[in-house]
Amino acid sequence: MDATDMGDSLQDVLVTAEQMDQRLDELAAQIDGDYAGREVLLVGVLRGAVMVMADLSRKLHTPLQMDWMAVSSYGSGTKSSGVVRILKDLDQDVTDRHVLIVEDIIDSGLTLSWLRANLLSRGAASVEIATALRKPKAVKVAVDVKYVGFEIPDEFVVGYGLDYDEQYRHLPFIGTLAPHVYEN
Ligand code: PRP
Repeated sequence: MDATDMGDSLQDVLVTAEQMDQRLDELAAQIDGDYAGREVLLVGVLRGAVMVMADLSRKLHTPLQMDWMAVSSYGSGTKSSGVVRILKDLDQDVTDRHVLIVEDIIDSGLTLSWLRANLLSRGAASVEIATALRKPKAVKVAVDVKYVGFEIPDEFVVGYGLDYDEQYRHLPFIGTLAPHVYEN
């Protein structure tokens, strides 16, 4: 899928596929340096993190394993409440493991804040966070995010794993939707 397939549904391109690829190269180099001599457990948060997990993991030289969680935030509409329900738990035990949570976007930061505390309470040796995108609100939440791809404005974004009504996840870049798409 590319921009031409979106017709007038696409408003702007915020991050091109090339920009994302280059930024993930930088983050991977940083992660390799930080985890030298240690094995890392990458935990992808379904479903949005599929693309960044696939791309980031293939750039890493650090020995790693991958696992997945699916969580759902209780709340109304698009707003997170901070109360999180586990829809699919990890298959692996995280005790004494160095966990790196991989996310597509941090919006309110509430999901990540809960998830980090949850994994630490299970005895993980360390829990860090890598996210492709972060919105401004998340900066205010007291959750330390070590690896951030791009800081983006508080707009409705799709692509690179992010959906609107389950559409556009396979768009290779990050775009904003034209308001007429979601205002109907
Ligand atoms: C998105 C994203 C994060 C969460 C961030 O997932 O992948 O998990 O929202 O929001 P927060 O910072 O406000 O807590 P979403 O619930 O849209 O599910 P999806 O990944 O399946 O699209």
